[in-house]
Amino acid sequence: MNILLIGSGGREHALAWALAASPLMTKLYAAPGNGGICQEAECVALDADDHDAVISFCRNNEIDLVVIGPEAPLVAGLGDALEAAGIKAFGPSAAAAQLEGSKHFTKALCREANIPTAAYEHFTQAGAALAYLEGRSLPIVIKADGLAAGKGVIIAETMDQARGAVEMIFGGAFGDAGASLVVEDFLEGEEASFFAISDGKTVLPLATAQDHKRVHDGDEGPNTGGMGAYSPAPVLDEAMVARTMAEIIEPTIAALADRGTPFRGVLFAGLMITARGPELIEYNVRFGDPECQVLMMRLKDDLLLLLKGAADGVLDQMSVRWFDDAALSVVMAANGYPGAYDKGSEIRGLEDAGAVEGVTIFHAGTKRDGDKVLAVGGRVLNVTATGATIEEAQMRAYRAVDLIDWPEGFCRRDIGWRAIGRIRGQRE
Ligand code: AMP
Ligand code: GLY
Repeated sequence: MNILLIGSGGREHALAWALAASPLMTKLYAAPGNGGICQEAECVALDADDHDAVISFCRNNEIDLVVIGPEAPLVAGLGDALEAAGIKAFGPSAAAAQLEGSKHFTKALCREANIPTAAYEHFTQAGAALAYLEGRSLPIVIKADGLAAGKGVIIAETMDQARGAVEMIFGGAFGDAGASLVVEDFLEGEEASFFAISDGKTVLPLATAQDHKRVHDGDEGPNTGGMGAYSPAPVLDEAMVARTMAEIIEPTIAALADRGTPFRGVLFAGLMITARGPELIEYNVRFGDPECQVLMMRLKDDLLLLLKGAADGVLDQMSVRWFDDAALSVVMAANGYPGAYDKGSEIRGLEDAGAVEGVTIFHAGTKRDGDKVLAVGGRVLNVTATGATIEEAQMRAYRAVDLIDWPEGFCRRDIGWRAIGRIRGQRE
């Protein structure tokens, strides 16, 4: 098969790495790709927003399947445009991608399908939102409705902060994403991520993961796209996974099918494991980044077969197997990230680091300049390792990190602390 992969991050490098290993693969293209992806695929300069250009590329190169990595092209309807042109794509339609594109869409679907999630109301006017706040307890969560690059969620500890968040969102701080907002109760518990794959009718569980969103050790400092991840997530044991499938994932897939907008793609549920059980915080309509990197290293089956199965609507005849090994990924970012950072510094030592047992290094923001690898993004490398336990995977990942010579970059030194603490606690 000829495949076109859309995206340029560490997630897409991991997808390219797994796709390239498939015996079904004839030729892999990536648009635009990065300095790591170009080792697995032919990188092409295609603009994913230009649907006609993507369609003509697919026709000229006899592409059998387009794999769409990030959410923006999905929400913008690239999947629909490809389908209308008769080209197979992995990734949901724009209508189904509203699960990520609109907080209100997801909350309303949860209410309709009786899916456990925080109590909420949706507002289009500041006055009504401010009046609703009066009756609620603290902390309280205010969310801009649309995609706001991960910045549209405010957890208010005081009523002043809550009122300020409402004023800020309706004041235009997030542009169109803040044309309306959701106010929801604060959920207590431990967060974890759950991934499933659907062809619109059948949904198969994939695996569990946890990430670290804050930039500094101890989960301090500003939010980022994710500074590291590991899989499996010990908090999501077999019983919790079964409940998540039955109470959250399956009703979601069924509700979207009933509405005539079936969900085909990867459903990524951000969960809070509360005293009552799993509750939905948010949906994403794609693999997580860096969660995808750890999932791909644990996947035993052929990724291409699985994505093709979802696109073809035959997941009812398939199953997914995983290695028992754990996997953990440490993100190396450019100094200054998530604020301003410099581009163009050279990264050395990647070969030695990649030779550490169990380690694969995915590139997130690099480009090649002859033999050199240069940093050109905020999140730059994902040093990923497998091991018999999360502790072993962590040890191997940091051994590799220490062999990388890149003074212009940094990483957290405590990725996996929560899982390792939980496992040690159980052992004692
Ligand atoms: P979201 O963009 O919806 O994932 O929210 C970003 C982060 O805010 C989540 O990963 C949670 O850590 C936190 N969060 C969002 N909603 C809630 C909630 N209702 N209760 C507690 N924490 C929340
Ligand atoms: N790591 C979180 C995300 O991909 O949204």
